[in-house]
Amino acid sequence: MEIIIQPTPEAATKIAARLVASVIQTKPAGVLGLATGSTPLRLYRELVEMKLDWSKLTTFNLDEYVGISPQHPQSYHSFMWENLFQHVNVATKNVNIPDGLAKDIPGFCARYENKIAATGGIDLQLLGIGTDGHIGFNEQTSSLASRTRIKTLTPQTRQDNARFFGGEEKVPHHVITMGIGTILEARQCLLLAFGKNKARAIAEAVEGPITSMNPASALQQHPKVTVCLDEESAAELKLQDYYRYVYDHKPDWQTI
Ligand code: PGA
Repeated sequence: MEIIIQPTPEAATKIAARLVASVIQTKPAGVLGLATGSTPLRLYRELVEMKLDWSKLTTFNLDEYVGISPQHPQSYHSFMWENLFQHVNVATKNVNIPDGLAKDIPGFCARYENKIAATGGIDLQLLGIGTDGHIGFNEQTSSLASRTRIKTLTPQTRQDNARFFGGEEKVPHHVITMGIGTILEARQCLLLAFGKNKARAIAEAVEGPITSMNPASALQQHPKVTVCLDEESAAELKLQDYYRYVYDHKPDWQTI
């Protein structure tokens, strides 16, 4: 894992944006795995400003709430169109987001997995992290080999996301999420975390044992993960100084 600690979320986001841009420029017909939530918002703004060519890219989103329509203002469909897709030249047919209204959820999930495989697999998977260490909506004790499926949100996650819905009671109980096994098959992962409420989850994910009690810790088994942090989210890492030292001495030929 490469751990990049920056003074602010803005600075960490700039580095993350460079990484995403380099993947898009190197492989214009590549496949991006995308995330929602507060964390990637700045990143999406940066990417829009970079005026990259999205016309041949395919995208797969990590997750979606079950039981709400794509038009619902809090759906991840709405989030993605509002914050990214409407501002770039992505082809609508190449955008994939789980269908929260799928009648046959297991069938839909199997087709989602097949579609990821048929495109050749995800080149770069963008990830946020929950305060409990979830990635996608793989809550604690999710199988580390899990595939796309329905999950029940924890009360903590529903509480964390209540701010978007204007009340916890309005947050759906179920979601469709790529599995941890699905995420681990991406060729590269980029995890972003900002703020002190993520510090514990980050420390456990990076330096703790690999355990389904912190689903992000499964990324320790992935060969190519970059973690972009601000000071606050990095605060509980024991080897902070080492990560800074490594980044400061990164060989010139190792681009982001
Ligand atoms: P956040 O959510 O970016 O809104 O903090 C992250 C997550 O739950 O994965």
